[in-house]
Amino acid sequence: MPVPSSTSSLRKLHVITWGCQMNVYDSARMQDVLKPIGYRATAFPEEADMIILNTCHIRDKAAEKVFSELGRLRLIKQAREKEGQQTILAVAGCVAQAEGKEILTRAPYVDIVLGPQTYHRLPEMVARIARAGKTVIETDFPVEQKFDFLPAPTTENQLTAFLTIQEGCDKFCSFCVVPYTRGVESSRPVSSVLAEARALIKMGAGEITLLGQNVNAYHGLTEDGQPCTLADLIKSLAALPGLKRIRYTTSHPRDMSDDLVEAHKEIPALMPFIHLPVQSGSNKILLAMNRGHQAGFYMEWIEKLKRARPDVAISSDFIVGYPGETDKDFEDTMSLVKQVGFAQAYSFKYSPRPGTPAANAPGQLPEDVKDERLYQLQDLLRSQQDSFNQTLVNKVVNVYFTGKGRKDGQITGRSPYLQPVHVIGDETLIGQERPVYISQQLTNSLGGQIKELENT
Ligand code: SAH
Ligand code: SF4
Ligand code: F3S
Repeated sequence: MPVPSSTSSLRKLHVITWGCQMNVYDSARMQDVLKPIGYRATAFPEEADMIILNTCHIRDKAAEKVFSELGRLRLIKQAREKEGQQTILAVAGCVAQAEGKEILTRAPYVDIVLGPQTYHRLPEMVARIARAGKTVIETDFPVEQKFDFLPAPTTENQLTAFLTIQEGCDKFCSFCVVPYTRGVESSRPVSSVLAEARALIKMGAGEITLLGQNVNAYHGLTEDGQPCTLADLIKSLAALPGLKRIRYTTSHPRDMSDDLVEAHKEIPALMPFIHLPVQSGSNKILLAMNRGHQAGFYMEWIEKLKRARPDVAISSDFIVGYPGETDKDFEDTMSLVKQVGFAQAYSFKYSPRPGTPAANAPGQLPEDVKDERLYQLQDLLRSQQDSFNQTLVNKVVNVYFTGKGRKDGQITGRSPYLQPVHVIGDETLIGQERPVYISQQLTNSLGGQIKELENT
């Protein structure tokens, strides 16, 4: 199979991304890693010399969804073959890691199967296919860290960017596949994070979201070999010229720390919006989930955050219908939600995942019970989100403008709480932050007017 060896022979690459923000980051890095060997992104799979399906394994029917998508991609590959053109089909991400062998058996037309920790080796995998024409599978956890081998990010004019600083998980919540798909917890050294942040800022990123499966467990080493906390890393990032906003996700209640709370008080660039998943409000269920914390502990951190930064807003993840969850346990979740008042949240029906302890636990609940609880919880969360959005009306918030709006003369941006905000404004403001008077709540966004900067 012919493979480009330099930028003189350009090839087209189509990447399909499912799953969490870390997969979005990984997809961008896979494009970066393939660029030096001539691959450039295309939005059209039909014209792609290589297609990567970056998969997620977190919930129900993940593998089936992958096989059904592969069936569609196979037809594209076959049609191109008829015209004498080759397509390298690669499956990446968490399903590839968990079900690599199964993919090769059930979809033998797939050329490359690679896990989340091996994509720095993609050029070599592509070359191996060209040489031997055989399928490549790379799902062992390598000893080297991929970050040491990745080139600097190359996407231009990206006003908001993700940056993975921590990856993997050693917490083994009883329901979760992530420790098996992403591997052990590890943090990138501070210098490597700062170098990537500088490169992102140079290409236009005014807002960076630090990513990790447990981002607040970050303990990357400084140049002197000392472990650095997330709070200290944020302080160093905040000092970089050009960086206007910093976010981080996903935090774990067990890894919350006083210095991180303090950072929210002290660092204006650190956005007052925190995603802190709790999963359940019932202590019995939290114990069964192996979360390592109770509801009261979670509430204490929420209180500390609110004290340190009164304008803080909280988002969370919930699972309903975990094995053994009674009506009373579910009520405990509903009352925790009422106590906290979330600005936004994701909620899911418990989905048994192969190989996780909870999948074989007694007390699995019928779908209709899970459906009913999810409905009730989402109803409450939606009304809380609505009330939160309403609290911003008639207030002034800083908006970071990221693009043109749908209407003529309109530009859109993000509030500190990630709500889209539309205003009438000049396109030159894109990439900048301005105070905006919020005048109305729209269906999934806010509308307002730019507040003129007062002459001083
Ligand atoms: N590391 C994060 C969560 C990562 S997974 C944390 O510990 O909070 C993202 C979310 O998917 C989880 O917070 C959980 O709510 C949901 N999730 C994970 N496994 C699930 C399962 N088996 N069934 C339903 N939801 C699940
Ligand atoms: Fe999964 Fe728990 Fe690790 Fe989060 S902390 S990634 S839910 S095992
Ligand atoms: Fe999915 Fe893997 Fe992210 S399972 S949620 S893509 S870590």
